[in-house]
Amino acid sequence: MFLYLLGLVVLFYLFRWIREVPRVGDKASKYVYVTGCDSGFGNLLARHLDKLGFRVIAGCYTEKGEEGLRKACSEKLITTHLDVTSKESLAKVAAMIKDKVGERGLWAVVNNAGIAVPSGPCDWHTLDDYKLMLEVNLNGVIGSTLSVLPLIKKARGRVVNVASVFGRICVTGGPYPVSKFGVEAFNDSLRFTMAPFGVKVLCIEPGFFKTSVTDSEIHIKNAETLWARLPQDVKDDYGVDYIEKTKEVIKEKVAQMSDGDLMKVVSCMEHAVSAVWPRKRYSPGWDAKFFWLPLSYMPTCVVDYIFLKTAIPIAKKLQ
Ligand SMILES: NC(=O)c1ccc[n+]([C@@H]2O[C@H](COP(=O)([O-])OP(=O)(O)OC[C@H]3O[C@@H](n4cnc5c(N)ncnc54)[C@H](OP(=O)(O)O)[C@@H]3O)[C@@H](O)[C@H]2O)c1
Repeated sequence: MFLYLLGLVVLFYLFRWIREVPRVGDKASKYVYVTGCDSGFGNLLARHLDKLGFRVIAGCYTEKGEEGLRKACSEKLITTHLDVTSKESLAKVAAMIKDKVGERGLWAVVNNAGIAVPSGPCDWHTLDDYKLMLEVNLNGVIGSTLSVLPLIKKARGRVVNVASVFGRICVTGGPYPVSKFGVEAFNDSLRFTMAPFGVKVLCIEPGFFKTSVTDSEIHIKNAETLWARLPQDVKDDYGVDYIEKTKEVIKEKVAQMSDGDLMKVVSCMEHAVSAVWPRKRYSPGWDAKFFWLPLSYMPTCVVDYIFLKTAIPIAKKLQ
């Protein structure tokens, strides 16, 4: 019985592996628009797709990002300034893309741009902090998708959304998980409603990887900034040494948990863009596969127990 089951599992993975190998042809005529190409996954993906022969349109937030990519890539790659929070910027880039792709339409958009701070316990934040991050991580994804969706429908192309394991499970405060849960919801609603048009919608849910999103210096600075502006009574609730302990945890844990092999994520993005049969969801990273996603299926009380047990203790306990 055990061997029979094992055989079925092996057959399933073999079938899936064979099915996932073929890639789409005629890459040289397929345009792929990637947002957030200055650094991290977006930068690496733009270079990788360019090498594979796709026509990449790389949205960069900074002039430096554009320059770096132009130097590193072929002449086919187009860089453009893009701020996903600006309607004008999104419309300008969409008009440029429409002009380039013509009747073929746009093969894919990869919604990768995102930010990770401000981030901390919920009562350390203002509504404006939430608005700021949602504007980039959620409205930015929706805005860039809608700006090119008619072109994608024309090509019967793809939308690739970069969410996070924190779009599946929430064990931190602040706007980041809120934005990523939003991306997951947008992704799923888009997948259902675009399927009749032959448009594929794929979601990438990475674990922790070494980029500026997980940079401990940035997170320590962010924690100090949020702490400094807290009213004294809130600081008293947490205790005088809470901020120092927070900084220690960030320094030790975040660096330790982050995987340096960004190609694990970029290979999934590439597969979503170019495989004949892409997966609906990708979870790159051992932590995503074996910790965060299994944990997301656990009962809430179990998740709460684990994380409250290991959380930094606060000064003001319940009476
Ligand atoms: N690293 C991880 O562990 C991890 C895990 C799960 C999900 N993710 C997600 O993966 C995506 C890529 O992040 P990353 O890890 O590669 O970090 P990253 O290097 O910081 O990449 C994010 C990119 O977005 C750009 N960006 C920021 N604000 C923008 C705006 N308003 N308009 C356009 N572009 C903007 C950044 O430009 P500047 O560099 O100029 O600011 C940067 O190029 C993000 O959506 C992130 O949430 C990352």
